[in-house]
Amino acid sequence: MSGPASIGRRRFLRALAVAGTSAVLAACGEAGDPAADAAPLTDDAATPQPSAWFKDTTPFLVHDDGKSLEARLENMDALITPSRFFFVRNNSVSLEVDVDAWRLAIEGDAVTNPLTLTYDDIRTLPSRTLVCYLECAGNHRAMFGLVQGRQSTGTQWMTGGVSNGEWVGVPLRDVLNSAGITDEAVSALLIGLDTESPEQGFRRALPVAKALHPDTLLAYSLNGEDLPRDHGYPLRALVPGWVGSSNVKWLGRIVVLKERLWTRNNTTSYVLIGDDYAPEGQALGKVTTTQVIKSALALPWPALLNAGRREIHGFAHSPHGPIRTVEWSLDSGRTWREAAVVEPQVQYSWARFAFEWDAPPGDHTITTRATDAAGNTQPDHIPFNEKGYLFNQPVPHPVQVS
Ligand code: MTE
Repeated sequence: MSGPASIGRRRFLRALAVAGTSAVLAACGEAGDPAADAAPLTDDAATPQPSAWFKDTTPFLVHDDGKSLEARLENMDALITPSRFFFVRNNSVSLEVDVDAWRLAIEGDAVTNPLTLTYDDIRTLPSRTLVCYLECAGNHRAMFGLVQGRQSTGTQWMTGGVSNGEWVGVPLRDVLNSAGITDEAVSALLIGLDTESPEQGFRRALPVAKALHPDTLLAYSLNGEDLPRDHGYPLRALVPGWVGSSNVKWLGRIVVLKERLWTRNNTTSYVLIGDDYAPEGQALGKVTTTQVIKSALALPWPALLNAGRREIHGFAHSPHGPIRTVEWSLDSGRTWREAAVVEPQVQYSWARFAFEWDAPPGDHTITTRATDAAGNTQPDHIPFNEKGYLFNQPVPHPVQVS
């Protein structure tokens, strides 16, 4: 290694030597992109794979965009989603990355000490463990059509664009501090190695406050194993509570800049566009950041059940903290009954809920509605947005009992 990167790396490793190990289980270029002129991506380590995914697609609802493997919540009963059932959303295809050739570059006009890190460098850093759900901003998108009668564009996710994992990684802020992030920093642009994706590397800019949040991680492990290739091996961002697109996979470069960055993924994509959303900066609408509170049943769509008494369960999650109540309704929300929320709840994790139902023969809908400890409840109605993000009205789940 030569030049500023080597100096930076030495300092970086010295900083590591003085930092203790802290493992914490937390309750758990388009126009205007100055980073486009920065150093080229370290993409010689990455090979796209001929088919879109590495994992067995059998357990998933496979969308015909060739980019989206929707999880079937009915496969899940435990808090943690096994990696083989964890949903996948790519903007091109999953990558095979040669970890020996892989490097992470941290650069930009708001760092004084640009770094280039190896995988071993990352793995020797103090780490944190978080149980955290990851959700695509478009999860429940099909409900705009099914519930509001107005279909949005985009992959028609039902309720399985979400999964819950145990992640291990290094706080992004430790790496940014080692790179000498300055007080003038405004954005940290995370860039993936998937050069076949839009912008020649999927990218998302984080405001510096979110990048420096102690729970924003550079994650290298999911559910006790190295990150699976479909989920960003060797390294991805984990931005708890924020829309899935913030969690950039196959990370290769982080560019820290003194200005707010406008790229595809905060101007035309991942933006709420519609009559009720005022344009923000260079975006066509309101930029999505935090997710919204939601709940869904762990049942096929539609569910086919035998008549009789049974336990029904599902999952609820809020980016704002623990779930306080989940209610269920057999009459489209005119009357509600309370489900049991399974404890303990872990910050950033989804919560499991369950209720007993003596199912009579016939066609039914079961609607669920979650409320979190901060008082946020799933709303009766949300305004339409063209790309169908952040749908969180209560979902009427069709159930046929015989
Ligand atoms: N990172 C890269 N490099 N390329 C991508 O296409 N997709 C994003 C995000 N990170 C994406 C990415 C989107 S839209 C989502 S919802 C999440 O990854 C999905 O993460 P998963 O596939 O691990 O479930």
